[in-house]
Amino acid sequence: MKLLVTGGAGFIGSAVVRLAVARGHAVVNVDALTYAACLDNVASVAQSPLYAFEQADIRDRAALDRVFAKHRPDAVMHLAAESHVDRSIDGPGDFIETNVTGTFNMLEAARKYWTEAGRPETFRFHHISTDEVFGSLPNDPRVKFTEDTPYDPRSPYSASKASSDHLVRAWHETYGLPVVLTNCSNNYGPFHFPEKLVPVIILNALAGRPLPIYGDGSNIRDWLFVEDHADALLLVVEKGALGRSYNIGGENERTNLELVRTLCAILDEKRPKAQGSYADQITFVTDRPGHDARYAIDPTRIRTELGWRPSVTVEEGLARTVQWYLDNEPWWRALQGRKGVGERLGVKA
Ligand SMILES: NC(=O)c1ccc[n+]([C@@H]2O[C@H](COP(=O)([O-])OP(=O)(O)OC[C@H]3O[C@@H](n4cnc5c(N)ncnc54)[C@H](O)[C@@H]3O)[C@@H](O)[C@H]2O)c1
Repeated sequence: MKLLVTGGAGFIGSAVVRLAVARGHAVVNVDALTYAACLDNVASVAQSPLYAFEQADIRDRAALDRVFAKHRPDAVMHLAAESHVDRSIDGPGDFIETNVTGTFNMLEAARKYWTEAGRPETFRFHHISTDEVFGSLPNDPRVKFTEDTPYDPRSPYSASKASSDHLVRAWHETYGLPVVLTNCSNNYGPFHFPEKLVPVIILNALAGRPLPIYGDGSNIRDWLFVEDHADALLLVVEKGALGRSYNIGGENERTNLELVRTLCAILDEKRPKAQGSYADQITFVTDRPGHDARYAIDPTRIRTELGWRPSVTVEEGLARTVQWYLDNEPWWRALQGRKGVGERLGVKA
């Protein structure tokens, strides 16, 4: 299969690119290389004859038409997006332009290409989205996000992703474009950009800096190892039913405080401090405006219909992630100098 992957120089996109090439798929990585991108994330496959890279911005429709005409993909996996909630609070405009208008451009470029190719039913436009489109859940383990949960986005990021999901469904209903959608919970793992919670905690801990916890740390997220997400995405693009959406989650709910304490315990074992525990560095800071209380995914559909299961527990995945950061200091040091990294963002509201 020849896959056109957008956002393949980012965190999740690069995991998809690496796994797809390892499984023998041809991959065209389309990425604008924003502040969040790093081509080192795909260095392990860059020399493969199965891999091609196109620097293109999904806000540039003409560039997308050229990429489709040149590479003639069997399927699109659309991951390119502005992805950091805190940045969406400070600067929502980029999120509307890339996540909404950019997805519109992707749909139109794909529709043109697919129509001119004779509307093959085997073509797929796979839109990768987030569980944040469903809003915030009460702290009740019986309630989880299913594919039928009404949309209720509450941040500029989640509203822009919700808009893009609606566009993708509309292009299926109106034009017959063969789409599939996925909505996934919080990912963690290797190559996670050092502005997101898990790497911030690991890297601040190692540097002896405070470990910032928003509010009282009681916000609950459902954590999934990025390589398990990439595996689920390849399964959906190959076997997902036309027009269907699938929720992907690891059934690993943790409060932010629990997650941070687990990371500290792993670090205490792998890189003990001279004195005390990394948990001593935990500091509570002003909460994010509109901070969603709880996300939790019910992954029954992808489990029963496609047979997907995560391969690691959250404890195993976090231990592998911590080890990866310990082993890959040059990677994260190079990214720490990028604009906004290490600063507190998203408190202006
Ligand atoms: N990180 C998570 O926990 C999570 C969970 C569920 C869903 N998602 C979704 O998965 C996708 C990937 O997330 P991520 O965490 O890997 O993001 P990321 O920020 O690490 O990577 C995004 C990539 O998209 C590229 N990009 C951004 N704007 C672009 C543009 N205008 N044109 C072309 N390329 C552009 C960036 O250069 C970067 O390489 C996003 O759509 C996100 O909404 C993320």
